Amino acid sequence: MGQDWTQSRPGWTDRAAAGAPQSGEKTMDGLMQGKAVVVTGAGRGLGEAFAVHVARAGGAVVANDIDAELAERTAENIRVHGGRAVASGHNVAEAGEAQEIVDLCVKEFGGIDGLVNNAGLNYEALPWEDDAEQARELIQVNVLGVVNTGLAAIKAMVDAGTGGSIVNISSGASLGQRKLGVYAASKGAVASLTYSWALDLEEAGIRVNAVCPLAHTRMVWKSERSLRACPPDRTPARIAPVVLFLLGDGSHGITGQMIRCNGPQLHVMGQPFLKQPILERPVWDTETVQKAFDEVFAAHLENYGLEKRVPPRLRKWTETTSPRTA
Ligand SMILES: NC(=O)c1ccc[n+]([C@@H]2O[C@H](COP(=O)([O-])OP(=O)(O)OC[C@H]3O[C@@H](n4cnc5c(N)ncnc54)[C@H](O)[C@@H]3O)[C@@H](O)[C@H]2O)c1
Repeated sequence: MGQDWTQSRPGWTDRAAAGAPQSGEKTMDGLMQGKAVVVTGAGRGLGEAFAVHVARAGGAVVANDIDAELAERTAENIRVHGGRAVASGHNVAEAGEAQEIVDLCVKEFGGIDGLVNNAGLNYEALPWEDDAEQARELIQVNVLGVVNTGLAAIKAMVDAGTGGSIVNISSGASLGQRKLGVYAASKGAVASLTYSWALDLEEAGIRVNAVCPLAHTRMVWKSERSLRACPPDRTPARIAPVVLFLLGDGSHGITGQMIRCNGPQLHVMGQPFLKQPILERPVWDTETVQKAFDEVFAAHLENYGLEKRVPPRLRKWTETTSPRTA
C-alpha cells in the first residue's frame, strides 16, 4: 500500500486508470482495514472504482464481474499496488453463482463485512418499442442480482454475528424517467429492498443504504441525453468516497437511506410516504372516489418523475402562458 494509484502501469487502459483515486484526493487509508468486501460489476466503470478505493483504504476485495477477464484485471491491478483482491467471474443473476461470490469472500478472507451491489444493465426504449426479453434480462440482473447477492451476504453476516454494511446502487431514474421505464422500475425495486432490508437487519447490526450515482461510464456513453448531463470530468472515482463512507464504521447509525451524488452535488433522496389527507369511508364506490378527486385530491396531486412534471389537471394553475393565447 502507500503507492501512487494515479500512475498508470504498462497495460493499464484509460478505463482502469479512471477507477483510481484522483491526485490530491484523501483516500482514507486504513478506513477499511480488516474488512472484506464484495463488489459486483467491478470489471469497469463505477464498480472498478469502488473496488480500487476499498482496497486502497486497506480492505480485502472480491472483484466480481460477469466479464471474468475484466474482473481479473481489477483484482490484478489492486494486487500489483499491494492490495488484497481476488476475482470472481460469476453471474449475479443466478442465485447459485451469487452464493459462490460470497463463499469465495468467506473462504479467501475469513468472512464478509461489506457488499456493494453494483452490477447492472441499462437501455433506453419508448414503451411501445420495448422488448419483453430485454426487459426480463435487465430485471434479472438489476433486481434479482441484488436479491441473490444480498441474501447470500446477509446470511453469511447474520451467521457470523459481526454485522456489516450493504450498499446497493440505485439511480435517480427510480423516480421515473422518460425512455427508461424498465430500468427505472428495477432501480425503484432496489430502493424498496434497501428500505425493507434496513428495517429487517438493524438488530443484526447490518446497515443497508443505497447510492444513486452519476458518472461518466460506458452506461452513459450509450445515451446522448446522459452524455449531456454527465461530462467526462464526472469520473467514477468521484462517487467512490460516498460508497467507502457507507461501508466504513464512520457511517454507524446511518441505514435505510438513499444518497445521491453526481460529482459536485451530494444529497439525501426523499422517500415516498403516506400523504395527508387520508379520507375514510366504510366503502369507496366509483362515485365517491370521483368526488374525492374533484373536491379534495385535485389540490394534492404530485408532480411526477425525476423532471417533476405537473399533472395535466393542475397545469392551468401553474402555466404562465394562458392556454387560449398559447
Ligand atoms: N453511470 C451512471 O451515471 C449511473 C447512474 C445511475 C446508476 N448507475 C448504476 O451504477 C452501476 C454501475 O454502472 P456503470 O455505469 O459503472 O456501468 P458499466 O456498464 O460501466 O459497468 C457495469 C458492470 O456490471 C457488469 N455486469 C453486468 N451484468 C452482470 C452480471 N449479471 N453479473 C456480474 N456483473 C455484471 C458488467 O460486465 C459491467 O462491467 C449500475 O448498477 C448502474 O445501473 C450508474
